[in-house]
Amino acid sequence: MTVIDTSVWFQPEIGPRLQPSIQFVFRQWSGLTDEELKSHLHRIREQAWPLGEFPCIGLWMFLLPGIAAFPQFPQILEFARRPESRIVDLGCGLGQDLRLLAAHDIPTERMWALDLEPHLWRLGFELFRDEGRLQASFIHADFLEADVNDDGRFAPLRGQTDLVLASQFLHLFDWDGQIAANQRIVALSKPGTMLVGFQQGRKQARAYIRPWGMMYYHNRDSFLRMWETIQQQTNTRWTIDVSAVALQQWGMQDEDLEWMPEDRMGLNFVMTRET
Ligand SMILES: C[S@@+](CC[C@H](N)C(=O)[O-])C[C@H]1O[C@@H](n2cnc3c(N)ncnc32)[C@H](O)[C@@H]1O
Repeated sequence: MTVIDTSVWFQPEIGPRLQPSIQFVFRQWSGLTDEELKSHLHRIREQAWPLGEFPCIGLWMFLLPGIAAFPQFPQILEFARRPESRIVDLGCGLGQDLRLLAAHDIPTERMWALDLEPHLWRLGFELFRDEGRLQASFIHADFLEADVNDDGRFAPLRGQTDLVLASQFLHLFDWDGQIAANQRIVALSKPGTMLVGFQQGRKQARAYIRPWGMMYYHNRDSFLRMWETIQQQTNTRWTIDVSAVALQQWGMQDEDLEWMPEDRMGLNFVMTRET
């Protein structure tokens, strides 16, 4: 197996990748005008790429509608809006998912964000022009190594998190890594917790080598099989709504898909812990 040349994940021009749901966030939450938005995004994206050579940056996927396009989005918003709801965005990158909620009037004081790369999170304040307004707490950690049971930074989340966001994140790890990461998510959860996100998949589930290590692309069956193991190991039960979707349905452009094999697809998941 050869490691991919990450330049295939870089599209110089934003083109048609700016869609209404994220435009709404920049207008509503950041106060950016439509006229200034494209040049602003180009400037920030140039700074973000050296910090994380991922498709989510290079292919402008941080602008995808993401969970805003889920049919369950109104329920997710309603859930997040409940008083005292605690929300964490894992592998937050630039932090657009938290801004999406903020633009829909979800209070930001009880939001947390976690990432290995603090500079992306810092750049997010410039991207969304909300330094001093976004009250979310940032946890700088490797989620594969984090000791969520003892590390004090997780104390407000441990067994108390209502909504866990994991967009374009868990697929970065191999099968065992995804199990370990999801076990940590379970440790942060309680009955009623929602776990929501989307990630790349393949119709034929398989592992890949990437610059950061091995990753595993699921199909629906392998995702469910992995979660069967996690539920057994953690003695929890979850309702799992996972759907395979075409990547164009996420809002990706055909030219962004050329580096991928034919059986590419996306997995959207909305899960609720029952017990
Ligand atoms: C593909 S990006 C997704 C970012 C964002 N959630 C989005 O949807 O655009 C993956 C993010 O996970 C972070 N990351 C990678 N490995 C990590 C780890 N082991 N622990 C915590 N964060 C990690 C990267 O720094 C990057 O910001």
